[in-house]
Order: sequence, then C-alpha cells, then structure tokens
Amino acid sequence: MAASSQFDTPVSRALTARGAVFLGRLGGINLTTLTTYDLDQFVADMNALVKSRPEQAKLFDKGSSYLERLVRNPSCIPEEFQRPTGKGKRANHGSYALYRGPGLFVSAVVWGPGDNVGPHDHQTWGMIGVIGNAIQETRYRRVDDRDREGFAKLEQDRTTLVKPGDVSLLIPEVDEIHRMDNFSDRSTVEIHVYGKDLVGLPRYRYDLETSEVKPFASEKFDNC
Ligand SMILES: [Fe+2]
Repeated sequence: MAASSQFDTPVSRALTARGAVFLGRLGGINLTTLTTYDLDQFVADMNALVKSRPEQAKLFDKGSSYLERLVRNPSCIPEEFQRPTGKGKRANHGSYALYRGPGLFVSAVVWGPGDNVGPHDHQTWGMIGVIGNAIQETRYRRVDDRDREGFAKLEQDRTTLVKPGDVSLLIPEVDEIHRMDNFSDRSTVEIHVYGKDLVGLPRYRYDLETSEVKPFASEKFDNC
C-alpha cells in the first residue's frame, strides 16, 4: 500500500517497504500498527509451536492459523520461487526449500499447467497452503488390513479444489495419502510445511491399479 504524499516520510517509506501497512497520522504521530505476516514471522511462530511439543490437534489448529495468515500475503516468497524451474526432468514443476530446521521443513511448491503427482504419503505431519491459482487434491483411504508388505488397497475418499488462502492438512496414518493435479492453464503456487525434512526421507507411492506400495525418497528438487 503506497503512502500518500501527505504521509510520505522516511519512516513511513521504510515501514511500507518492509511490508507494513501505513494507516495515517494522528496528532503528528504516524500510525503503523498493522503489518503483513511474512515468512520470517511464520517460521518463528512455527518453531515456537513445534518446540512446545503440542498435541497433534493443537499443532494443526495453531499451525494452520499461521499458514492461513502467511498465504494471504502473495509476496511472502520471492517471485523466482513462484514459477516452475523450466529445466530438468520436471521442468513444469518447482520445489524450493525455504526453511530447514529440527522438526520443521518449509518449501514453496509450484505446479505448472497440467502438472501432477500420483498417490503418495509423507511419513510426517504436513500442511499445504495455496497462495495463487488452485490445486485439485484427491485423498485416499486404505481399506486393507495392512498385513501384507508392499500391498495397499486404496479407495478414493474425496476430491477438493484447494484455493488461495485455503490450508489442507496431512494427518499421518489417518488422512494423508493424496494425489495432486493442476488442470488449469496457469501455475499454482503453494507453501508446504512438514515435521521432517523431506529430502531423502523414506516414503511411499501407491499404485491404484496393482495395489503395489513402492518406497521412494525425494531428491533435492522433487520434495513435494
Ligand atoms: Fe504430497
């Protein structure tokens, strides 16, 4: 929000440049009381939350409120992290690590037009917030008795179009196996938050036709 010439002071310019919303002036005092929520604040809040070792319900309740605030600020991540890489084996996709720390991993994920990934899990808690465009997320539930290694019978649970400002939750062993599709002609930009660093983390892909479960570990630029 640009300050008007009436309030165009060095202080107001510095604050608006840092993402603060300049509200005006009262009795010669600048009123800059409302600031946008940025990535640094989000990481600080999430680290404090994780370190408090909350129960899962509290983790998701508070964590999703933080993430909802963050994704309402489209400029919370740099422009270069809001487009596909344009190179490599997934040129129409982008995964960019934003923060890596004990018990907390934050990344920007970009799905170009038509980009998708099949059913998989994350082996940790997760939250996905959409910044721009939308993503179709399909969730599956296991209906087998989990006693055959390498086998999982899945049924589709629901399909949701997750829109800007929305946050979806990945709840380990309860509601986490998902497929992602961008059927639109624009890129979708998201913030992903996990309880473990996904790079190299052993996880599973699920084949709906054969019911096979295939172990995999994400490479550096394939960590969604
Ligand atoms: Fe995923």
